[in-house]
Amino acid sequence: MQLSARHLLHVLALLLVALPSRSAGHANEAVVDAVGHGDDRPSPPCSPADRAALLGFKAGVAVDTTGILATWAGGDCCGAWEGVTCDATTGRVVALQLEAPPPKERHYMQGSLSPSLGGLEFLQAFVVRDMGRIGGAIPAALSRLTRLRELYLEGNMLAGAIPGSLGKLTSLQYLSLAGNRLDGQLPPELGAVFGLEQINVARNRLSGAVPPSYKNLSRLAYLDLSNNLLSGAVPWFIGQFKNLALLDLSNNSFSGEIPASLSTLHSLTDLSLSHNKLGGQIPPQIGSLRSLNSLAIDDNMFVGSIPASFLGLQKLWYMNLSRNGLSGPLPTGIRNALPSMVSMDLSHNHLTGNVDQFFRSLSTASPDVNKASQIVLPQKLEHLDLSENRITGALPDFTRGAGLKWLDISSNAISGQIPSSISKLSSLERLDISRNRIRGVIPASMAEMMHLQWLDLSSNALIGRIPDNFTRLTRVRHANFRANKLCGRIPQAKPFNLFRPAAYAHNLCLCGKPLPPCRKI
Ligand SMILES: *[C@@H]1O[C@H](CO)[C@@H](O)[C@H](O)[C@H]1NC(C)=O
Ligand SMILES: *[C@@H]1O[C@H](CO)[C@@H](O)[C@H](O)[C@H]1NC(C)=O
Ligand SMILES: *[C@@H]1O[C@H](CO)[C@@H](O)[C@H](O)[C@H]1NC(C)=O
Ligand SMILES: *[C@@H]1O[C@H](CO)[C@@H](O)[C@H](O)[C@H]1NC(C)=O
Repeated sequence: MQLSARHLLHVLALLLVALPSRSAGHANEAVVDAVGHGDDRPSPPCSPADRAALLGFKAGVAVDTTGILATWAGGDCCGAWEGVTCDATTGRVVALQLEAPPPKERHYMQGSLSPSLGGLEFLQAFVVRDMGRIGGAIPAALSRLTRLRELYLEGNMLAGAIPGSLGKLTSLQYLSLAGNRLDGQLPPELGAVFGLEQINVARNRLSGAVPPSYKNLSRLAYLDLSNNLLSGAVPWFIGQFKNLALLDLSNNSFSGEIPASLSTLHSLTDLSLSHNKLGGQIPPQIGSLRSLNSLAIDDNMFVGSIPASFLGLQKLWYMNLSRNGLSGPLPTGIRNALPSMVSMDLSHNHLTGNVDQFFRSLSTASPDVNKASQIVLPQKLEHLDLSENRITGALPDFTRGAGLKWLDISSNAISGQIPSSISKLSSLERLDISRNRIRGVIPASMAEMMHLQWLDLSSNALIGRIPDNFTRLTRVRHANFRANKLCGRIPQAKPFNLFRPAAYAHNLCLCGKPLPPCRKI
């Protein structure tokens, strides 16, 4: 589970995407109820014009493994036609919602979107989701659907540019074209759809800058432009979208600095600017985004130190500042300042500071004159990555840290010994202390870390044996003891006698499988 926190973030984002459509679902259920089960008035038959438009769509789909279109038979498109919802009083189609049933990999529709769909003039919700092989262009004729509030065409193979004529959909609130093969630029015309609350065009091949006309989209709550080829500056006017809860511009080529105007987005819960070409200092004003749950600005070119103002984001649980040029000392005082923190990645920067002080400042143990050295890590903290920095000092004595699953302090200048109390970090699944200056022996107590799956102690100055008790660590899938000064017999049991010899190479005198047998003395 290498990216578990990030994965969670995505699940959250997906939930957010799902929200509007769920409310749409409710709206449609209401409509379905209105269609009337057993009330005296017979519902009007479906409008012939709408039926023709739907059959035009059906004709454009050559293969349908979902079974949905097979139900589109007979005259009354308002009855048994799956995915079609009509207004009970007029018989006009108000919603067309086609979603591949699970498992998604197995179900698809192959074909294209017929321009005939433009004839569904009373349509309020149009969803073609995860159909995988619906290709071709988005028909410009969709611009006739002026009552449309929701347009979800995600998870297909739609290609070409986003038609500027979508700017005529003046009732549109929710737009998702994510996960297609759309290219060209973001259409400036969309800036005229003032009611837009959600734009998701993630995972396409869109290029160019964010059009200045988007400055009028002041109702936006959700803006996901991630995983495209977009460039230019992060527009300052995004700071005027007071309802914005999610802003994801990750994996593009945005450049310049983070506009300080973003700091007024008091509803913002998720901010991702990862994998861009952004630089300069992180504006300290970011610290005033009090609603932030997740902040990802990894893989950019930010310099300077981590602003002290970050310490105070009480709801922040995911923070990734990895792969920048950040310098200055590790933040301290995190315990009170970031009480919700679950995952913190500060790796691949030029951060300095003392690892002992850092853990002390993280500790939730109440200061006790007699036990001044107690270190209890916050229960919520699961993932801590400080690797590839310039951190010094020695690991402290741990008292408790039951929540921590991932600890990576590799490639720093950490010295001292491995405290035998490291075994108090009893949930650790991954421990990487490689490429430091750690001396002394490997504590036998580490054999109690029953959840360990990944252990890297390589490139240090460890001496003595690999404790025989390590044979209890049966869940370990990866271990590396390379380039230390270890000696003696490798624990002769699975998995330790099965790792590649390279995992034990460049030591003083290790022996036994997978290395040559130990010499009898
Ligand atoms: C943080 O970002 C880096 C680089 O983009 C990525 O490799 C890493 O997995 C991320 N860390 C977490 C905890 O998600
Ligand atoms: C934005 O809105 C203002 C008034 O609210 C209007 O004058 C202006 O033309 C709009 N800009 C665009 C690009 O639509
Ligand atoms: C970035 O986006 C491109 C285009 O959508 C995609 O192919 C690539 O896998 C993405 N990279 C990452 C790291 O997500
Ligand atoms: C290691 O194994 C020995 C012998 O089996 C046992 O006496 C000792 O308590 C173990 N130590 C730890 C820390 O598990």
